[in-house]
Amino acid sequence: MHRLYTRSPIAKIMWGIVTSLIGIITLLLVLVSENPRMEAQTLSWEGRSIENGATLFANNCATCHGPNGQGLLGRAPGLNSYYFFTDTGRLQDVGWVGSLEDYVRLSIAAGRPSKTDSQWPEVMPTWAGQYGGPMRGDQIEHLTNYVMNWRESALAQTPDEDPFQPFEDVFRPTEFQNTAFLLLSEEEQAAALEEYQARNIRSPQEIWESEACFACHNLEVNQVDYAGQNGPNFADLHERAGSRVADMTAEEYVYESIVSPRAFVVETYEEVGQMPENFAEKLSEDEIQALVAWLLDPDREVTEEE
Ligand code: HEC
Ligand code: HEC
Repeated sequence: MHRLYTRSPIAKIMWGIVTSLIGIITLLLVLVSENPRMEAQTLSWEGRSIENGATLFANNCATCHGPNGQGLLGRAPGLNSYYFFTDTGRLQDVGWVGSLEDYVRLSIAAGRPSKTDSQWPEVMPTWAGQYGGPMRGDQIEHLTNYVMNWRESALAQTPDEDPFQPFEDVFRPTEFQNTAFLLLSEEEQAAALEEYQARNIRSPQEIWESEACFACHNLEVNQVDYAGQNGPNFADLHERAGSRVADMTAEEYVYESIVSPRAFVVETYEEVGQMPENFAEKLSEDEIQALVAWLLDPDREVTEEE
């Protein structure tokens, strides 16, 4: 009897099947428990990464961005901020189309190029070794994870809690560079901006300065264009504007040049033409009208009378 169980080929096959089955079941059990285990491991890795990031932040970033990442006024912008984390906030203002996480990673790794007239007294330094900074790639990852870990609490901030610091080079007027504005509906934002524009009509001279028309155009000297200016000079604009485009008055032509500069590109500027195309959005209708009249006025005052 005993022999029959151990020696017969059939019994051996049976044993083989039974042990294989046990093996397969064990394997399945391990597989089933693997996913949660991996998740737990990832979580604890992320947790440790965030902790490492916190230490790195305290030692390297807090002097400028504040101990809790809420920024320091006039020094560096808040990162632990609704404005920073919301889609319609900082990312839109800088025109970044990628993810916020990539934006953070790149800002930390590469820093920011210095701007000649930046609103910040110091520039954001470069941190990653690959760009000449002092940190390793994993440290950049830890810092990125740490900054991104503020998302939930930052998005829960009320306008009063958001350490918003306006970016002066942002397209929206400073008055609307705040969280309260971002929380308005699209229609409410449009209405507020319209109301603002109606109440803040800038003189042509102010626009000439604040929109930096002077950087590319010259008002007084009828200099040859290649001598330093990127755009045609305006000393004699009133003489030629009416004959630039057939069937267009001088006023119509100058108006069009400002709101859609590509409609007609002045000869010799086809290749270099860089007249900004967003003045229609930046200037109100009244401002553009006044600007057109001023540019075409042969006796215009270049500086505003006090
Ligand atoms: C010397 C001051 C200084 C230090 C130190 C510094 N930053 Fe910055 N950081 C800035 C300034 C200024 C800006 C804004 C730059 C700009 O937009 O022109 C900035 C921008 C950023 C931005 C992008 C913010 C935005 O709204 O576009 C991130 C992210 C950032 N810093 C993270 C860090 C981290 C992480 C550290 C530490 C490793 C750090 N910074 C250290 C000054 C600093
Ligand atoms: C970055 C440079 C730049 C800035 C800033 C700029 N322009 Fe221009 N502008 C040009 C160039 C280049 C041309 C010629 C090419 C073309 O026709 O678009 C031009 C053309 C014009 C013309 C048509 C001139 C002609 O002789 O036919 C007008 C009018 C004009 N700009 C007005 C303005 C006003 C007003 C501003 C400020 C609100 C301004 N520009 C800001 C570069 C600039």
